[in-house]
Amino acid sequence: MSATAAEAEAATAAGSSEKDPLLLRAARGEKVERSPVWMMRQAGRHMQVYRDLCAKYPTFRERSEIPEVSLEISLQPWRAYKTDGVILFSDILTPLPGMNVEFDIDERRGPVVEPYRTQERVDTMTKMDPEEACPFVGSVLRDLRKEVGNEATVLGFVGLPYTLATYLVEGQTSREYLEIKKMGLSDPKLLHQMLQTLCDNIGEYACYQIDNGAQVIQVFDSWAGHLSPRDYDEFALPYQKQVIAKIKSKHPDVPVIIYIKQSGALLERMAQSGADIVSVDWTVSMDEAMRRLGPNIGVQGNLDPAVLMGPHDQIKERTEEILKMTGGKNHVMNLGHGIEAKTPEPNAKCFVDTVKNFKHQ
Ligand code: CP3
Repeated sequence: MSATAAEAEAATAAGSSEKDPLLLRAARGEKVERSPVWMMRQAGRHMQVYRDLCAKYPTFRERSEIPEVSLEISLQPWRAYKTDGVILFSDILTPLPGMNVEFDIDERRGPVVEPYRTQERVDTMTKMDPEEACPFVGSVLRDLRKEVGNEATVLGFVGLPYTLATYLVEGQTSREYLEIKKMGLSDPKLLHQMLQTLCDNIGEYACYQIDNGAQVIQVFDSWAGHLSPRDYDEFALPYQKQVIAKIKSKHPDVPVIIYIKQSGALLERMAQSGADIVSVDWTVSMDEAMRRLGPNIGVQGNLDPAVLMGPHDQIKERTEEILKMTGGKNHVMNLGHGIEAKTPEPNAKCFVDTVKNFKHQ
């Protein structure tokens, strides 16, 4: 064993996490020297090196399922900006074939699924074996840990059942979610069957990611913000709770971050999910979000991604405003949603550097 490996082991044995990377310590709620930073959807479309790779590997399925390619893309934003978090380059739909659900990513239309709207079709969904269905995910996570060492935290992620179900029922991305809402009204039992199957598989899949090196898990229920509170309590929250409880039962020390878009009205409900950190979008101010969530839960976010289209002095000012509100405690700096495809790379760098150079008083 090398000296550093022995030291790390001794530190772990002594219960000290001094050797752990910054974002992991912050996500656990420990006092840290500065707020860590990463960007949702940081790997991918806004980077020229990614667009160059797309010429060689034209489909998203290739880019996310060939381990060497996914690894390279995951590392691109880390090399460019030295973010504190490195997220696996993959998609929330990636595990679906393991449940006997086929999908395609159309470069213009986004995800495409032959819709699931009948009992017969929902009955064809199966239990997933993550290692069999997604060995490339395990391989990329293991390699990411080797590549970044303790300089960054490796994040895994999953889509939560309601958001995944929107793609299965609608068959594509949607604006109004009328088909899934119709199913919730006319055949709620069928929708619950689908949600429960997704839930059991996704819990296993998240644990598989942790077993292979993910140090933090972000769970995305991006489209649950379209639900009325009543429907959220019936179709989203119970399954969020189950997925997170499954993760916690096997890996109690792995921090879980939950994200929902348009979640301003849902913050108190998100706090009930069992997540350690709520990722806040930009439609609510961070100080209000912290007040409503209470002192026992951390926050992530929440710069409007559109701010990265503005001049550097504005990026700096608005980023620092958020950092001041959080006071540096229980906070992971991020955008309020994924980085926009048109974001100039120097502006993303300006955002990351602003966070890294900011000193809390
Ligand atoms: O954006 C979110 O709300 C996060 C959750 C989410 C992801 N994928 C995670 C993701 C959602 C809702 C999806 C669905 C999906 N998959 C979409 C959105 C379509 C819609 O309904 O609006 C799209 C375009 C895909 C396919 C996809 N996923 C592509 C083409 C790419 C690569 C290029 C890009 O657009 O950035 C992805 C990558 C992806 N999807 C990541 C994550 C966490 C990559 C890892 C990262 O850098 O964060």
